[in-house]
Amino acid sequence: MVLASGAGSNLQALIDAVDNGRLDAEIVAVIVNRRSAFAQERAASNNIATEFIGLRPYLDDHGDPGEARRRYDADLAETVLGHRPDLVVLAGWMHLFTMGFLSSFGGRVINLHPALPGEFPGPNAIDDAWHAHLTDGLDRTGVMVHLVPDEGVDNGPVLATEVVPITLDDDRESLEARIHAVEHDLLVRAVADYLEGL
Ligand code: GAR
Repeated sequence: MVLASGAGSNLQALIDAVDNGRLDAEIVAVIVNRRSAFAQERAASNNIATEFIGLRPYLDDHGDPGEARRRYDADLAETVLGHRPDLVVLAGWMHLFTMGFLSSFGGRVINLHPALPGEFPGPNAIDDAWHAHLTDGLDRTGVMVHLVPDEGVDNGPVLATEVVPITLDDDRESLEARIHAVEHDLLVRAVADYLEGL
């Protein structure tokens, strides 16, 4: 089961890995939380069940954003559980879960993040690393896949990491492209290893 908010290139890496036998798994469904998420089209064109479930109606119905998030997370958990997944993969999922979602999955939620453990949490990790390169000469960043046991932001027991160098020839776009290439491989490996260990 994959949750995504954006372009879905990491979802595509998982789809391709299932197709070519690198990943012994079935993607039972893809849920997106943004209407513009191209991940949904990738799922649909690969005959994977897919659904858009956004936070907005919950925010409109409940004055309190905390309550809206709790209700959204509870409903989303129910939908995801309906697919009976072995594993929930957050592949570019830009929404912080409350325990109301996470406690339904017995620790079987993993997240991909474009930075090394403890560095650049949040939605702008690549920009943050690029800025650190320009201002402080940072010469490497990285990618990690980690478990999501609680409400920590891009933080949790690490399953896999890979360092990504930042070279003097880089610009923001070339760094991003290198990070994505590493992600596409690392995520597939981490998911395969995790499923093998179940
Ligand atoms: C990826 O770089 C992923 O690591 C990042 O969003 C991007 C999604 O790309 N996730 C985070 O920043 C989580 N904090 P994609 O939609 O092409 O897979």
